[in-house]
Amino acid sequence: MSSKSSCSFLNSVVKKQIMGVSGLLLCGFVLTHLLGNMTLFIGSDAFNKYSYALTSNPLIYFAEAGLLAIFLVHILMAIKLVIENNAARPVQYYTRKHSGRGSTFASSTMPISGVLTLIFLVIHILGLKFGTHYETEVHGVVMRDIYKTTIEYFQDPLHVLFYIIAVTSLGVHVSHGFWSAFQSLGWNHPKYMPKIKLAATAFGILVSVGFSALAVFCYFQGAK
Ligand code: HEM
Repeated sequence: MSSKSSCSFLNSVVKKQIMGVSGLLLCGFVLTHLLGNMTLFIGSDAFNKYSYALTSNPLIYFAEAGLLAIFLVHILMAIKLVIENNAARPVQYYTRKHSGRGSTFASSTMPISGVLTLIFLVIHILGLKFGTHYETEVHGVVMRDIYKTTIEYFQDPLHVLFYIIAVTSLGVHVSHGFWSAFQSLGWNHPKYMPKIKLAATAFGILVSVGFSALAVFCYFQGAK
């Protein structure tokens, strides 16, 4: 192997590792966000108090900046790896070819599901975080009534449908990304890989079903 090709090989390995670490961190965020949003099922006070606890903490600005940085790094590495793959280099991140098993639907659609998630995120943040601002009082504390904004948002069936499509696509994305990250980081011992793949599939289903259930719940909650 020439020094040039060995150098570019190392670069691709590092890129895949950065992709893996940032992807796992984003999976952590998605899981936390899903669990936090479950307070919607409890009721308006629980959801508003949860959101207020997060947004009134001064550390939120560091957390948001960190999250944005992780998203940007993940997207940038993805673009670089797709360009490299398209240039027919012998490095395949988005398929299982490197593990000798051929590609799956999830692995070959990673760029599409990734772009859809990005579009979803922009629409989602504009619609809720920067959506209509109501206020409410819970146990004497004035706070944003994000519950009302959220329920109102999902009164449009098209919003519910868009969410179901987007989070199903996100579920497919993470079901491949989760185990692929372990592979990229070299944590792919044959003994543990089947369990990691099972956990990845379970996580993908949890993300799709969990977020879809929240959107549908909000739709029906508004009809009350
Ligand atoms: C039905 C599903 C969802 C609901 C009800 C929901 C709810 C919310 C709400 C209410 C906010 C604003 C929080 C606030 O300002 O207090 C928010 C922000 C956010 N959501 Fe979601 N979300 C859902 C799905 C998702 C998914 C699937 C993702 C990831 C792909 C996501 C990523 C984000 C991000 C990145 C923010 C901005 C966080 C910040 O600026 O601190 N959400 N979400």
